[in-house]
Amino acid sequence: MKTHISCKGLYKIFKVSDLEVVALRGVDLNVQYGELLSIVGASGSGKSTLINILAGYESPSAGDVTVGNFDLLGINQKEAVEYRKTEVGFVWQQTGKNLVSYLDIFSNIELPMMASKLTKNNRKTKVESLIKFLNLEKIAKRLPENISGGEQQIAAIAVALANEPPLLLADEPTGELDDETGVMVLEKMRYVNKNYKTTVVIVTHDPKIENHVDRSIGMRDGKVVNEVISDNSNKKNEYIVVDSFGGVQIPQEILKKSKISSKANLKVADNKISLEKIIRKNK
Ligand SMILES: Nc1ncnc2c1ncn2[C@@H]1O[C@H](COP(=O)(O)OP(=O)(O)OP(=O)(O)O)[C@@H](O)[C@H]1O
Ligand SMILES: [Mg+2]
Repeated sequence: MKTHISCKGLYKIFKVSDLEVVALRGVDLNVQYGELLSIVGASGSGKSTLINILAGYESPSAGDVTVGNFDLLGINQKEAVEYRKTEVGFVWQQTGKNLVSYLDIFSNIELPMMASKLTKNNRKTKVESLIKFLNLEKIAKRLPENISGGEQQIAAIAVALANEPPLLLADEPTGELDDETGVMVLEKMRYVNKNYKTTVVIVTHDPKIENHVDRSIGMRDGKVVNEVISDNSNKKNEYIVVDSFGGVQIPQEILKKSKISSKANLKVADNKISLEKIIRKNK
């Protein structure tokens, strides 16, 4: 297995007038080529910020982030344009953002290919094979407004795959769909992952996504805090993440239960670390 995405101690700070908002505070993440991964977390946890950095839309503030051969921290504007054109496809939550309203679905899929050196005939062959691959034959000649929300998102996947990027990113791709249609779109993404071997990263706030991916990471307050991995028999194993500085985030409910507040006794044994509430002895 080869690493496709690597983030180490990744920070993103937004400056809003005099205020600084720390959206990512030391994200560590490794994704292998061909993985199907989701990023789950509450609103404001930093999911979109992370995926926008991976897409080359936002520049990181500090830390390391590489995707394939691209170092996204040191990338200049020209390289970023090339990166976005060849290395990633992106599906937005808002169907209107993914498709050009006055072009039919065929032309929408062809549009990203216009910047390549493909001939008209080659483009046609490629669009037709994507249409066949994603079962879009019936809607190919229709405008986006004349197809359903689910069909729009599947067409958006085809647009994102037009230039055969090795990485497909999606930010809440099912956010505007009902549950059943959402599952259909997620299963299409899994189909792309399994058949095209594309690395797929899906951002969502819906923990049910864990049923549709191989691995799901959880974000809280700008950090990756846990991971759920499905094994061969589809059993889900949940792990807490230890970051590159040795930090872990203990869920509030566990902290409360343990009655540990600001300090604790740290004990180490073979394969085991424990935190114990400090008991003060009366003198
Ligand atoms: N362009 C920006 N300028 C200033 N602050 C921002 C900007 N984008 C995001 N933030 C802030 O960064 C933090 C993380 O935001 P982000 O959009 O990444 O969260 P999210 O997990 O995608 O949330 P949601 O589920 O609501 O989409 C939030 O506090 C947000 O207000
Ligand atoms: Mg978001």
